[in-house]
Amino acid sequence: MSSNETAGGPSDVTSAADFNEGATPFDAVTRAEAREIIARYPDGRARSALLPMLHLVQSIEGYVSPRGVEFCATMLGLTRAEVGAVVTFYTMYKRKPAGEFLVSVCTNTLCALLGGDEIYAALSERLGVAHNETTDDGSITLEHAECLAACDYAPVVMVNYEFFDQQTVASAAELVDELRAGRRPEPTRGAPLCTFRSVERQLAGFVRPDDDALHSGPAGEPTLVGVRLAAELGQAAPGYDPATPIPSVPPKNSARKKS
Ligand code: FES
Repeated sequence: MSSNETAGGPSDVTSAADFNEGATPFDAVTRAEAREIIARYPDGRARSALLPMLHLVQSIEGYVSPRGVEFCATMLGLTRAEVGAVVTFYTMYKRKPAGEFLVSVCTNTLCALLGGDEIYAALSERLGVAHNETTDDGSITLEHAECLAACDYAPVVMVNYEFFDQQTVASAAELVDELRAGRRPEPTRGAPLCTFRSVERQLAGFVRPDDDALHSGPAGEPTLVGVRLAAELGQAAPGYDPATPIPSVPPKNSARKKS
């Protein structure tokens, strides 16, 4: 093992004994893409490439398999235990093959109160799967998620990380029925739906300039309500760019002293 590898540097995996075609799905193209990811980080910081590398693995296998762990470990000069610790920490890394569509139902407090728990229970029964399980036809993996960062649109469901806002039991059931019928319903906002493996490739940082993934719509009304309220109250996050539409003026009736 080279000193570069022991220091956490990238490994130039090129020997036939390594990840050659037939032995694993990580062929020369994948190895080149892995090196492209590693090159995004400063010298000696190859291990920082692990998160996008794991998404690259998922784009090929649909999950992080033991050989995917080994691939990342070898390329990055890490131990398999170190890679495994990351894989098991983050919920976006799947340890069993995911379906074509990952359906995430938010069951955190706000969504749960507004119907998220009922939506999750209904989808689980309809699909015949529990958390992180995949339907027999391989079309849908169901998971419950802890806040999808869209509380203003609660209760929310995501499909392959695209938002379907303000869902009901009925609309969520219709959504999964459409997916299982081979159709791709349009998300409420953001990019059009693509497959799980395709979105994983985007998360690895491989997005073409003409990809639909780059398209997103304007902020929606529930978000703007919050922005307007903040402006009215003169609230802004510390260090927020003063050129933004949220003015840093004291709120009416504020007890704050003028500086
Ligand atoms: S609680 Fe569901 S998006 Fe935040």
